[in-house]
Amino acid sequence: MTDRLLNRTVFGNEENKNRVLTRDEAYTLLNNWVPNEKLRVHMQQVAYLMQRWAAEAEGLDEADQWRWEMAGLLHDADWEQWPDLHCRKIVEELEQRNVDPEIIRAIASHGPSYFGVDPVTTMDKMLYAFDELSGLVHAYSLMRETGYEGMDLAGVKKKLKSKGFAANVSRDDIQDACERAGISLDTLIAFIIKHQPMLSKQKA
Ligand SMILES: [Fe+2]
Ligand SMILES: [Fe+2]
Repeated sequence: MTDRLLNRTVFGNEENKNRVLTRDEAYTLLNNWVPNEKLRVHMQQVAYLMQRWAAEAEGLDEADQWRWEMAGLLHDADWEQWPDLHCRKIVEELEQRNVDPEIIRAIASHGPSYFGVDPVTTMDKMLYAFDELSGLVHAYSLMRETGYEGMDLAGVKKKLKSKGFAANVSRDDIQDACERAGISLDTLIAFIIKHQPMLSKQKA
């Protein structure tokens, strides 16, 4: 959809580097903008994966972990109420609130084929990589009797191959995201299977 194109390459203001919303502010925005519980769960799942990746794979400190988590938490904030303005509206909101440009950029590039913004930083690339795959894994957990318990790589890959399953999840985007991030699909799936259940248990 061409009208989703952001037609920009610069996001936020460098002067706001490291400026973040507090956890309370971010959750207030999430709850105010996203009435749909399922969408909120998706955003929290992606947020948690981003935080874990920042900590475990990138070895970043807590302040940086929160920057990654925040990008995940708010990436779809405008999707439910303003689908035609996704993700323009949340980008502009965070710019007005003087948020770190790296966080805004990551959100702006979470769907390069829709928004026309290429993921550049590792934060950008991981948000793009986790987004669709996290959704597919979650859909798979909902149809399994034991949920996430006992889920394995082979099972997820089978679902990925079955076109009828979670048909709205773009397989092309998943492959493209792995290539851009330089991470194998197996590594990414294993990371999601390992971490996503933690959050889902808290949410249940
Ligand atoms: Fe999105
Ligand atoms: Fe998403």
